Amino acid sequence: MLRPMQPPLPVWLLPVLALATAPAADLVKNAPGDGRAAFTFDAHAWDDAEAVRHLPVGVFDSGIGGLTVLEAILTLDAFHNDTLQPGADGRPDFANERFIYFGDQANMPYGNYSAAGRTDYLRELILKDAIFLLGRRAWPAQGNEPRFDKPPVKAIVIACNTATAYGLEDIRAAIARWRLPVIVVGVVEAGARGVAEARTEGGIGVLATVGTCASEVYPRTITRTLGLAGRGVPLIAQQGSATLAGAIEGDAAFPEPVSTYALREARALAGAYRDLKPAKPLETIVLGCTHYPLAEKEIDAAFSSLRGEPEWRDVIAEKRQFVNPADLTARELFRELARAQLRLKTGESCVLAQDQFFLSVPRAECAGVQLAADGGLDRDYKYSRLPGRPGVEDTKNVPLTRGMLPAPSARLLRERLGAVWSRLGGG
Ligand code: DGL
Repeated sequence: MLRPMQPPLPVWLLPVLALATAPAADLVKNAPGDGRAAFTFDAHAWDDAEAVRHLPVGVFDSGIGGLTVLEAILTLDAFHNDTLQPGADGRPDFANERFIYFGDQANMPYGNYSAAGRTDYLRELILKDAIFLLGRRAWPAQGNEPRFDKPPVKAIVIACNTATAYGLEDIRAAIARWRLPVIVVGVVEAGARGVAEARTEGGIGVLATVGTCASEVYPRTITRTLGLAGRGVPLIAQQGSATLAGAIEGDAAFPEPVSTYALREARALAGAYRDLKPAKPLETIVLGCTHYPLAEKEIDAAFSSLRGEPEWRDVIAEKRQFVNPADLTARELFRELARAQLRLKTGESCVLAQDQFFLSVPRAECAGVQLAADGGLDRDYKYSRLPGRPGVEDTKNVPLTRGMLPAPSARLLRERLGAVWSRLGGG
């Protein structure tokens, strides 16, 4: 639910505040070095300004959901590649760029750390994701020693709403402290801009994880974005779901059809909106979780069917506008790379011939790590870990191949994320 609007903080103060409250001060202090140890990177990788442009772009999420954002990036054609003017030119906007994707699957769902009272640990995890992308260190599929042949990145896309909510300011503050020429783009700011562009009259509903909603990042960012544009702020309601992402991924723990979970969440969001005593119906729906754009049809159908009931007719607008932060993030990345003159021009190429994909898995040999029967981290172990132990590497980031994906996830990618699927290695 929307809190009364606070005057926006000066932009320069945000990184300072974030660092002051960072739970991971040692992690930030010790990360730049020679990049050999866990959670460190080679501080000299960006010394040659011209070489920086030829580095890949890093994209990370808590799991494979962020591949929806990578798909949006890979397929974007919203600009003329040579003139940078808006408009399609028949060529993907990032045709020359290469990407390194990382999904922190072993430590997900990120959306549940707030309910477990462990957002301090989550913030550390998110910083470690960024440090991984900045570094050269990654683990091989087989073998007990890390390798050092992964290139660093020139930009980081936080393709996870929950990670943006809890980690964007920390990462920006750390990058500023490390004095790196690396761009950071998060899905929430892009989503808020999408709300501003939607130019609807009715209310706003945010569907996201429990953690993202608890952080209030969307109401805050939407309020700031509309406020800076000199616009009034409509009522904003939120609904945090603990089930919808899993159901969309085909997780066996959620056996009912996606439409059943979508209806439940739509009803809860409409109820939260009605509690605000609105004068106008709910019209703009922000798909504030990486997985939800994959179920937009089911979510819209759920609102339509609810509206068929007299109780909801005046609460829900006849036509809804959906905001998909993935598309908007892709545009934001294009603009930011162009602004920083980090975009590769026609005829130029990245140091990486092909995109790379990594996924975290438990590191069973780490002392004290506790595993569940399915080989993942034990749930209680996962959510009771404390920050401030940088020597503990209980998960490792290995190459992600098609063969590693559970059957429902593989089908989802094959059917819905064709550009990503065609770039993923077999195995
Ligand atoms: N990727 C997360 C997000 O967009 C959803 C999954 C999770 O909770 O880790 O918020």
